[in-house]
Amino acid sequence: MDDHDLIPAPRRTACRADSPGYFSLDEDTTVDARPGTEGVARLLRASLGAATGLPLAPGAGPRAIVLRIGPDVEREYGPEGYRLSTDGSVADAAVAVEGGSAAGVFWGVQTLRQLLGPDAHRRAPVGPPGRDWDLPYVTVEDGPRFPWRGLLLDVARHFLPKDDVLRYVDLLAAHKLNVLHLHLTDDQGWRIEIERHPRLTAVGAWRARTKHGHRASPLWNDTPHGGYYTHADIREIVAYAAERHVRVVPEIDIPGHAQAAIAAYPHLGNTDVVDTAALRVWDSWGVNPNVLAPTDATLRFFEGVLEEVLDLFPSPFVHLGGDECPKDQWKASPAAQARIAELGVADEDGLQSWFVRHFDRWLAERGRRLIGWDEILEGGLAPGAAVSSWRGYAGGIAAAEAGHDVVMCPEQHVYLDHRQAPGDDEPVPIGYVRTLEDVYRFEPLPPQLSPEAAAHVIGAQANAWTEVMDSRSRVDYQVFPRLAAFAEVAWCAGLPAPAERDFADFERRMTAHYARLDALGVDYRPPGGPLPWQRRPGVTGRPAEGPPPNV
Ligand code: ACM
Repeated sequence: MDDHDLIPAPRRTACRADSPGYFSLDEDTTVDARPGTEGVARLLRASLGAATGLPLAPGAGPRAIVLRIGPDVEREYGPEGYRLSTDGSVADAAVAVEGGSAAGVFWGVQTLRQLLGPDAHRRAPVGPPGRDWDLPYVTVEDGPRFPWRGLLLDVARHFLPKDDVLRYVDLLAAHKLNVLHLHLTDDQGWRIEIERHPRLTAVGAWRARTKHGHRASPLWNDTPHGGYYTHADIREIVAYAAERHVRVVPEIDIPGHAQAAIAAYPHLGNTDVVDTAALRVWDSWGVNPNVLAPTDATLRFFEGVLEEVLDLFPSPFVHLGGDECPKDQWKASPAAQARIAELGVADEDGLQSWFVRHFDRWLAERGRRLIGWDEILEGGLAPGAAVSSWRGYAGGIAAAEAGHDVVMCPEQHVYLDHRQAPGDDEPVPIGYVRTLEDVYRFEPLPPQLSPEAAAHVIGAQANAWTEVMDSRSRVDYQVFPRLAAFAEVAWCAGLPAPAERDFADFERRMTAHYARLDALGVDYRPPGGPLPWQRRPGVTGRPAEGPPPNV
């Protein structure tokens, strides 16, 4: 059975034994959008129309691509499932894409694009006029394993201009990924306009210089760096993503990773132990000691921030970070200690928990749910909160067993800033070596979970932290091709246990997929390793003595 090199692999493909052949898209091919699929039809026309130069006019008929929502597909494969038939086996359609919902139809259209070959991913026709656009006769039945299939883009450490974020939405959609987690704030930059606190971006979005490369690098880039998204930019990103059935989950990181906010508004910091007025947006990497002060003023300030965030992001989940919050300043601060006594909590972990619980309640009152990094388990997890399990599986297992929803994103497996080959050749070789094959063998569901606990693992996410990615092309290099392997892991319901996965078959399909990535203009890591211009002078060479630099 020909799987047509689809990535992620679908659940089932079938070819009609009695009539192998092709349906060819041409000037007479129409798009027949049934109720609820108009948005998908518009995008199909925009993408395939641009790539093929064909009109793909609205209309029914024997040469129509029919898009429709089918309750039977939803019953069988869920709301994001689809059935795609290109062999005329569905009445009144040359091609039928039936989805459990509009999202399912949209994922089916992504499969349709892959079946048409790499040039179907271009933005204008290439090749001779009148070239064939052949769809092999096939039926594909498909639906995802997890409802949360995410990528985190860290736009705080290095700002990614809006157009690059929109492009990443397209790249997620092409891989049937449906969550874009935007890490909007950190010590090194605040990237979202907050109208009531304008210094967050006027001051917090800019830094004077930047550590170049890994944390221990002696090099600095002295070009000021920064940028932020206006409310209009955010609304555009969210709407663009929604059209593509991608949800944007905002992250506002508290109470740690907050130096940019403190640099903008010094009263947010622990003023009794630090001269917070002297703090600047951080120019280096690592875990930063400058955390928020546990005051009512801080709570009110961030409630104001979140009011604007909720207005901009319809996502049911709002990520409030909660990771890597050193407790040293709270230990030293008489004000923080007085707060511990006043609240009756045991210690500084209790203060962290107090922050999280406050905003968990605050979000719940507004119909939203808090999600945070697995440190939010320390000092007692807020009821209703969900967990992004990043320090391994343990936090996710504990949270799922306690009945909390979990997104698995363990750094040992799916941190895409980490080097993707051993040796010294990777541009900035930090972290674990995680090859394409390693990511392909990532398993989001720990086998020891009971079925009830496993049901709380709502999905998986790959995280692209950008300390060592200072351009779109560097992000592409770290993210691809590994995101294609991750997409298969997060999407495919039938994938065997890690050791039994057929990586050779995935690699074979990747040959076709690299051509799609080329057409999409992705600067992926080539299978043979970085090209000379993808290496980094100054930080890639083996130091005079010792191992390659690491974080
Ligand atoms: C994290 O990597 N600190 C979530």
